[in-house]
Amino acid sequence: MSSASGEAERREIDERLAGATIGILGGTGAQGNGLGRRFAAAGHPVLLGSRVAARAQEAAGHLAAEGLSVSGVANADAAAADVVVVAVPYEGHESLLRTHAAALAGKVIIDCVNPLGFDRQGAYPLAVPAGSAAQEAAAALPDSHVVAAFHHVSAVLLADPEVIEVPTDVLVVGDDPQAVALVAALADQIPGMRGIYAGRLRNAHQLEALTANLISVNRRYSAHAGLRVTDV
Ligand SMILES: NC(=O)c1ccc[n+]([C@@H]2O[C@H](COP(=O)([O-])OP(=O)(O)OC[C@H]3O[C@@H](n4cnc5c(N)ncnc54)[C@H](OP(=O)(O)O)[C@@H]3O)[C@@H](O)[C@H]2O)c1
Repeated sequence: MSSASGEAERREIDERLAGATIGILGGTGAQGNGLGRRFAAAGHPVLLGSRVAARAQEAAGHLAAEGLSVSGVANADAAAADVVVVAVPYEGHESLLRTHAAALAGKVIIDCVNPLGFDRQGAYPLAVPAGSAAQEAAAALPDSHVVAAFHHVSAVLLADPEVIEVPTDVLVVGDDPQAVALVAALADQIPGMRGIYAGRLRNAHQLEALTANLISVNRRYSAHAGLRVTDV
């Protein structure tokens, strides 16, 4: 691709993203709430979703009190946003997506779900019949553009208003190049982050599983570790 066409593509994505509302299914949890804070700080109206709207309203109230454009709604209303993030535990993931499949059709869906188990040795990746949570999402949402990203971002750092930059690269995988580029551009909007294309959706399993290693790093070193890809 020439740099001129690359710049034109980037402009088009920036225009698509400008003012886009971001809905977050499971926005009352640590990850969804933290991502909501950062997307709102980047200028997006954010709809935090919950199975119980009152819970989302309470969670959103804390962010709105800081002047961020965040509202709390039922998941069904969060699913009506322009771009939708799925931030629920793996166990509830597939059935939640099937419930909202019609509202999510035609949209870019960002899946950050890590199917993990925990035992006395620490975290480990679960075997997922579809290959990965992201592929399971794609099967549940055949009319959406599922992109997997934000698996390795620390919810603790995202939630901390005193953390101005969240230093990590966000590995982005997906089968629709435009959707992948949009999600990478969204990551770029968060200070400290870079969105980096890391392959097709069939490679989501490694990203999800790598989270188990990062949890081990965090436990050993009392850290909130991120990732950096060099020479890019
Ligand atoms: N925490 C992290 O640092 C981190 C980092 C990267 C990725 N992730 C991934 O992000 C996802 C969310 O993580 P989290 O730590 O925020 O999880 P969480 O707090 O346990 O759950 C998030 C929200 O999901 C909803 N939920 C719970 N069980 C559900 C079910 N069975 N069906 C539908 N919704 C359900 C709950 O909201 P309501 O009860 O209000 O509906 C809950 O507040 C996980 O898949 C995780 O692997 C987490």
